[in-house]
Amino acid sequence: KYFIVTATAPVNIAVIKYWGKRDEVLILPLNDSVSFTLSQDQLCATTTACISPAFTNDAFWLNGKEESLENPRIQNCLKEIRRRAKESCSSCGSEDDITSWPVHICSANNFPTAAGLASSAAGYAAMVVAVAEVYGVSGGDLSVAARQGSGSACRSVLGGIVRWYKGEQLDGSDSVARQVAPPDHFGELHAILCVASGRRKKTGSTEGMRRCVKTSLVMNMRLTSTVDARTKNIVKAIAEKDWSSFCDLTMSDSQEMHAACLTASPPVVYMTDTSHAVVELVHEYNRVVVKEGQPQLKICYTFDAGPNACLFVPAAAVGQVMSLLLKVFPPSDHCTLDTYLRGLPCPT
Ligand code: DP6
Repeated sequence: KYFIVTATAPVNIAVIKYWGKRDEVLILPLNDSVSFTLSQDQLCATTTACISPAFTNDAFWLNGKEESLENPRIQNCLKEIRRRAKESCSSCGSEDDITSWPVHICSANNFPTAAGLASSAAGYAAMVVAVAEVYGVSGGDLSVAARQGSGSACRSVLGGIVRWYKGEQLDGSDSVARQVAPPDHFGELHAILCVASGRRKKTGSTEGMRRCVKTSLVMNMRLTSTVDARTKNIVKAIAEKDWSSFCDLTMSDSQEMHAACLTASPPVVYMTDTSHAVVELVHEYNRVVVKEGQPQLKICYTFDAGPNACLFVPAAAVGQVMSLLLKVFPPSDHCTLDTYLRGLPCPT
């Protein structure tokens, strides 16, 4: 006897960053964040979950390699889903109580892990959806379970533009993700990922956040006065379909997060010279399109905990932006996204 379910979840990219935790165990943030969930077809994680009374224990494989299940994040996700399964369980108490069957989980990304491309977000989101379904959990808010795997994962269970509320409750019950707008809200948008390095990041997000909260004055300013106001403004820009302000607010928030990192002690450095060159190019491009009276063609960058830029680009600007990028960063100089995604070695 067994039940098996496969689910996929896409990557999401934050435009207002989640940076800083108020609870490291439950993974509760110090501020609300806002993100774009990319479409499923390119960067996504796929998870298959299988439960059977024949299994002797839970097991987990990531990209073909068996991983320890001692990881408390996976444990917390499983605990939360099993708790929900028990609440709505029709077989509980009987011989066929599926909530007591062990689960085997197989997860794979179609892009490299830990290179600052939010792979853990897609991974935990896909895992939570697959495991919940295989245990018969229907309805309910899966963002709470995904959040316990990785904070940013709670935004990947929803599509389009998503807001993750920090919540006030100590148990995190109100720290949930909600869709703010559908995927096509700003018309056809493309995300261009500029991979400056495919290497694993030096300082993980948890440590980076912790250090900023403890030591950075810019982080203190962010949390006490700027990020909440910026979140309010970006939600307003979204409601008014004000693409130009959306772009400006996205870039400011990325710059502020990285300024907080640089002013931590010791400094947390994610962006490289290549990242800064992308920033310069985007501002220069925006200056020209605005001067030409075409603010709808503006683009924006955002950087997570790594050197790779994610650019949000309106469909009508993709051709021009790609040719600019290729002129400034010829493919022979660095790893192309295609090389990177196929896992081939990047030139150094
Ligand atoms: C810079 O979600 O990876 O991408 O909750 O510790 O797993 P944990 O952190 P994680 O942090 C993401 C940080 C970020 C910003 C964001 O996605 O909002």
